[in-house]
Amino acid sequence: MQKKMIEEAKKFAKETLGEDATGHDWYHIERVHRSALHIWEQEKVGDRFIIEMAALLHDIPDEKLNESKEAGEKKLHSFLDSINLDTQTKKHILDIIFSISFKGGNGSALPSIEAAIVQDADRLDAIGAIGIARAFAFGGKKGQSIYDPELTVREQMTVEEYRKGKSSSVHHFYEKLLKLKNRLNTETAKKMAEKRHAFMEQFLTEFHNDWNGKNEIDF
Ligand code: ADP
Ligand code: NI
Repeated sequence: MQKKMIEEAKKFAKETLGEDATGHDWYHIERVHRSALHIWEQEKVGDRFIIEMAALLHDIPDEKLNESKEAGEKKLHSFLDSINLDTQTKKHILDIIFSISFKGGNGSALPSIEAAIVQDADRLDAIGAIGIARAFAFGGKKGQSIYDPELTVREQMTVEEYRKGKSSSVHHFYEKLLKLKNRLNTETAKKMAEKRHAFMEQFLTEFHNDWNGKNEIDF
């Protein structure tokens, strides 16, 4: 029964997110699902079925991918109503999905160990080589530049700059991606993040070296 529901959730996520080009495509879901299972196996805590369902459905109500917040929530609710889930399990899955966003997870406590695992898996996909690719894909789609040296990082922005809402994809690394390694919940995810974090740092060093012409003196 649970196996069938997981298959249904996969199919639904594939149909709903398959075409997205902002880094939320089906393969993002597949990676988050796989990483969440890996963390669960290593940590040996939490309910496997809940983790799998929440991982597979976590981006369905994302505001960016829906006409409105309500439309996204409705989509998720109607899917969960269409499969044979008891009320408590449905509520748990919904609680996880609505608690794991960067904002939601920023300070406020997560509802369960299952939420902690799915959030870690989602965050791991935002860093490392894949994270780099996703940041530039997302930034390009949004119309922001790859880098703008005249912009300051958000924390140092003037109110005027902040109001304009201007940023660049390289700025996103300083504003969010480099911080994620310290915001992970499980020891397994922290270990998994090390190499990915180091790779982003190396990437940024090279990026700035190339940008400033520093790599040219070697040749
Ligand atoms: P999630 O899948 O964790 O919900 P988001 O919806 O916040 O992630 O973002 C999706 C992807 O786009 C992530 O890889 C994230 O790093 C990237 N991203 C989000 N905002 C920006 C931005 N302003 N500039 C560049 N990349 C961004
Ligand atoms: Ni996601």
